Amino acid sequence: MIKILITGGDGQLGSALNVAAKEFANFDLVFTDVADFDITKAESVDDYLKKGHFDFLVNCAAYTAVDKAEEDQDLAFLINAKGPENLAKACQKHACQLIHISTDYVFDGTNHIPYTESMETNPPSVYGQSKLAGEKAILENNDSSIILRTSWLYSEFGNNFLKTMLKLGAEREELRVIFDQIGTPTYAGDLARSIFKIIESNKKSGKTEIYHFSNEGVISWYDFAKEIMELAGLNCRIVPIESFQYPLPAPRPHYSVLNKSKIKSSYELTIPYWKDSLKWCLKEIQDK
Ligand SMILES: NC(=O)c1ccc[n+]([C@@H]2O[C@H](COP(=O)([O-])OP(=O)(O)OC[C@H]3O[C@@H](n4cnc5c(N)ncnc54)[C@H](OP(=O)(O)O)[C@@H]3O)[C@@H](O)[C@H]2O)c1
Repeated sequence: MIKILITGGDGQLGSALNVAAKEFANFDLVFTDVADFDITKAESVDDYLKKGHFDFLVNCAAYTAVDKAEEDQDLAFLINAKGPENLAKACQKHACQLIHISTDYVFDGTNHIPYTESMETNPPSVYGQSKLAGEKAILENNDSSIILRTSWLYSEFGNNFLKTMLKLGAEREELRVIFDQIGTPTYAGDLARSIFKIIESNKKSGKTEIYHFSNEGVISWYDFAKEIMELAGLNCRIVPIESFQYPLPAPRPHYSVLNKSKIKSSYELTIPYWKDSLKWCLKEIQDK
């Protein structure tokens, strides 16, 4: 059995890992969240890993309130930078491989071609800065971990763009959605399954590696909203607007498409097209 600790297990990705786990019979999984495993507490993190003898730790714990982070810098950095540092040190000490989740928001979004892992980071938001600080802390304190950057995460769990669109789409005749931010959605179920396939492959590169993961395809939030309404059979008109027409506290990258060649070739992954995964997720929501 492969013993795996999940942190932030009650969140979107943690919940998706819980579902995906059913396909992997050789995993012994322990799901935790902040009440029983607070990643910001260095001593208890070390103690838990010392006693637990885990082979892998998948860190889904994070401060994810992107706009709130602009005013809540200390807490964002504590959870997104100090937390991963604690995990990196404890995993290094207790021979546990760390798989950490990061974000497309580490980029400033000025690119016109999909971002590769080696391209320059320059996060404009506090959230992105705190996540980048987390990546750096891992690179400095652990020599065999995996950092997975992902984008536009959604699922049948928690709060996300899909669930907001379904709710508002049922209540309103018209919604204004930004068309000048381009990226790729990521269905948390696809990411969860890929994380487990990576664990199952047991491939070691001998150093800490960064990988990009999202679904296949490229769209704007406007296109995403249009397709959600269409597939969900909601009669709500989606109107394209520019970012300046919907001001938010935290700046967003205009372009954050991730190049996934590295993860696909390293782990022989086939990643679903975004529309196929959206259909799947909508079915999961309807069947609930
Ligand atoms: N959501 C997106 O669109 C998106 C996009 C790109 C990358 N990501 C990254 O993907 C990862 C998973 O995101 P998600 O959407 O699943 O996040 P999420 O739903 O917000 O889940 C995060 C979980 O971490 C918990 N947590 C907070 N502080 C903690 C602490 N100190 N110790 C342990 N657990 C703690 C949270 O508990 P509370 O709810 O009680 O705070 C929550 O259960 C994160 O690293 C995020 O940065 C997300």
